[in-house]
Amino acid sequence: MTATMNRPLGEPGASRPKPVHVSKTINLTLKVWRQKGPKDTGRFETYKAEGISEDMSFLEMLDVINERLLAENKEPITFDHDCREGICGSCSLMINGIPHGPETATATCQLHMRKFHDGQEVVVEPFRATSFPIVKDLMVDRSAFDRIVEAGGYITVFPGSAPDANLIPVPKPVADAAFIAAACIGCGACVAACPNGAANLFTAAKIGHMNLLPQGQAERYARTEAMVDTMEKFFGSCTNHGECQEACPKEISIDYIALMNKDYLRSKLKNRRYLSRKP
Ligand code: SF4
Ligand code: FES
Repeated sequence: MTATMNRPLGEPGASRPKPVHVSKTINLTLKVWRQKGPKDTGRFETYKAEGISEDMSFLEMLDVINERLLAENKEPITFDHDCREGICGSCSLMINGIPHGPETATATCQLHMRKFHDGQEVVVEPFRATSFPIVKDLMVDRSAFDRIVEAGGYITVFPGSAPDANLIPVPKPVADAAFIAAACIGCGACVAACPNGAANLFTAAKIGHMNLLPQGQAERYARTEAMVDTMEKFFGSCTNHGECQEACPKEISIDYIALMNKDYLRSKLKNRRYLSRKP
């Protein structure tokens, strides 16, 4: 035992007992979308979520429900997740009609149960968009996003070995703008929030982080044209509702859509000029 611990409380240097954090618990009623597979019509099922710690994340709360379902020999709820720290973009849930739930700038996996109140009814659905067909329960197929990224292709110039870090100067505001776009985790909340099911914010973020940087100039216009044309094959059209930026857990602005539209317009002229030079 140290001398400090022997001093009576209130004297300088005396140790105080650490406050014990007691987690509050809440009871919720969940209405969860259950669908056996892509061809099943699906329906809402009601579950009692009792004794849920406010410190749990939304996905941990679903884990608890699933453990209880398994204990009763019932089918657990299928939902997508991976990193559980806002990086991978897998956790795609509509919570009370809002992609990723009531907290702004937060992915479902980062949403805490303290954002809900005792006795609340919570409706949990998969992301709603024709381009994201339901695989099972709360899991959707977002591979249409992969087709857009694929269309962006790859840099065909031989990159050589890694250059010195300062060889290509990048102005700080340009680096910052590219970094913000690169924060897109491909979650699809922008599509789920859009009344048209448009993927313009996602595509603009993916195009923006490359087109802004000097290293992304080599195939800037070919890439833009291919990615936007692919996006239009799978998704609805943007009519500037702005719901996408409100739902985006990375707070990516619709300004990136304006940058993409400008580059798309230019690509139509530049690519035509380039093609006319080909034999
Ligand atoms: S732009 Fe935002 S909402 Fe859309 S996929 Fe990227 S991170 Fe998700
Ligand atoms: S599980 Fe990875 S972002 Fe939510």
